[in-house]
Amino acid sequence: MMKTILKTPKMMLRRRKNEKIIRLFDHCSDEIMSSVSSSLKDGFGQFSIDAILETPGLTERMRNSKIRTLPTDGGRVYFSWDIPNFIWDAVLNSKTLYNIVSDYIGPDVRLDDIYVKNVADGYNATAEGWHNDNVGYRLKLFMVFDTDGLPSATVVRPHQRPNLYSVNYKEEFFRTLKSKDMESYPDEITVDYKPGDCLFFDTNLQHRGSYHAGNGTRYCVIAEFIDRNKSDALRGKAPCGPKQGKGTIKISANLEKVIDNPIIDPNILSISGDKIYYGVK
Ligand SMILES: [Fe+2]
Repeated sequence: MMKTILKTPKMMLRRRKNEKIIRLFDHCSDEIMSSVSSSLKDGFGQFSIDAILETPGLTERMRNSKIRTLPTDGGRVYFSWDIPNFIWDAVLNSKTLYNIVSDYIGPDVRLDDIYVKNVADGYNATAEGWHNDNVGYRLKLFMVFDTDGLPSATVVRPHQRPNLYSVNYKEEFFRTLKSKDMESYPDEITVDYKPGDCLFFDTNLQHRGSYHAGNGTRYCVIAEFIDRNKSDALRGKAPCGPKQGKGTIKISANLEKVIDNPIIDPNILSISGDKIYYGVK
């Protein structure tokens, strides 16, 4: 408890500094964003994996691949940045996906990270309380390719843009007390998952995982999309960038599909032999 309290002023200071950077970039994004054409009204939308990635049968293929796995050591979460080639191809080829993310974030949007996160219930207690991810506008795409039992749901409070980020002192306070804000709000939407569903939402919205709602496992690939200039400005200050800002990930796709792809930021791309890396070492 004492340790948490002592860490709080440092964390607050960091959040205050990041707030300035985030608001600067997000304000620009608000100026250029075309609210009429955005299919993510209020920062939130539910789709199907196969439709958004323009690949019929993709969910089925994901379900039958090696990414449908759980930790062997009995842990509750399986993380992996080893994304199979067929998923990379779909992400890089889909015009639907690109149109949604560029309409919402702006022309400087980039794919910022992509990973497998398979979660058995009871995993992340802190994400059970209302929070935002403290990076301002950023889209996360949750591709739920399979479920076991009744997995936990996600609860979000949709909100129209502009919705400029500011430090959530209520959440910080709750965290210091090792407590969680789990109040119910009339505008909240609970999203349950069945295989093949995907949820797109802006992690700047207040959201929470409802981990006790279910008793099952969610097999999911998560892709993140953010303004590349903002992500670079937040490097080392917030978990942005490939591998959550902690290194590079391997893109397993043909080079010609990667080079000049508008969703890929060439400034963080490196090629070594026949391998393509994405991120900052
Ligand atoms: Fe979150």
